[in-house]
Amino acid sequence: MKRKVTKAVFPVAGLGTRFLPATKAVPKEIMTLVDRPLIQYAIDEARAAGIKEFIFVTSRGKNALEDYFDHAPDLESSLRKKGKTELLETLKSTNMDSGAIAYIRQHKALGLGHAVWCARRLIANEPFAVILPDDVIAAEKPCLQQMVEAYEETGGCMVAAMEVPPEKASSYGMLDVREDMGNMVSVNGMVEKPDPEDSPSNLAVIGRYILTPDVLRNLNRLKSGSGGEIQLTDAIADEISEERNVYGYRFRGQRFDCGSKAGFLQATVAFALGRDDLKGEFSEYLSHMVSQQNAAQ
Ligand code: G1P
Repeated sequence: MKRKVTKAVFPVAGLGTRFLPATKAVPKEIMTLVDRPLIQYAIDEARAAGIKEFIFVTSRGKNALEDYFDHAPDLESSLRKKGKTELLETLKSTNMDSGAIAYIRQHKALGLGHAVWCARRLIANEPFAVILPDDVIAAEKPCLQQMVEAYEETGGCMVAAMEVPPEKASSYGMLDVREDMGNMVSVNGMVEKPDPEDSPSNLAVIGRYILTPDVLRNLNRLKSGSGGEIQLTDAIADEISEERNVYGYRFRGQRFDCGSKAGFLQATVAFALGRDDLKGEFSEYLSHMVSQQNAAQ
């Protein structure tokens, strides 16, 4: 039975240690690409795909996220008084309808599968999306929307997929491809962070998923996997053993790994160059920097 995907889970409980000291006081999801926090990109993508309910799996120290998505009456009335309508508009994207957003705590860092499992009662018996905000995807048609459209044809479980260099396999969930249909593959198996020589392909899972509630039942077993953590990859792979379909979707777009400093910087440059109000001055500055660097070498 296929149903519309209207719920999305955002696992945001991670400590963000790769960005210390910044993340000592600021959740990494609030770190900004140009002027919007990482989490805003994820929410906008979810909205574009038709998501109506947003479930955050958080942890201690993430209160800033709750404030970010709350209305800010004082700020709004001060902007209104000053006639700053454009800024008021900008704030609108940060507001959620009453009851549209829920926060669940993951009390222990037991892995991504466990984080999603923590949201099981809110997801209930429906297909749902999972978005990892660290993976920012710039695309003409937002990635999750592409996937929802494909899912409406296929049903089953679907993960975003992208070719990665073979030596990077140990950083990703890797797909064992049954049949390659071009923008989509059907999957025989999935392995979380294999040694490169053991990887079944070069096709990696990227942080967008559409999952059936069966995956939550698989997670009930709380089986620990790679790194001693409860892995979402394993719970999806269990679907294949149950002879249910799992697909990898080769999305159209550019993915930035904003969980790493280099990826975050690349995303910052790319998004700044994509902005009409910044690209002129910024690209001039970048060319100047590059020629200076070249001259110094
Ligand atoms: C998670 C998933 C992994 C996936 C990756 C995509 O790993 O466990 O399967 O390939 O996200 O970014 P993490 O990067 O959180 O270790």
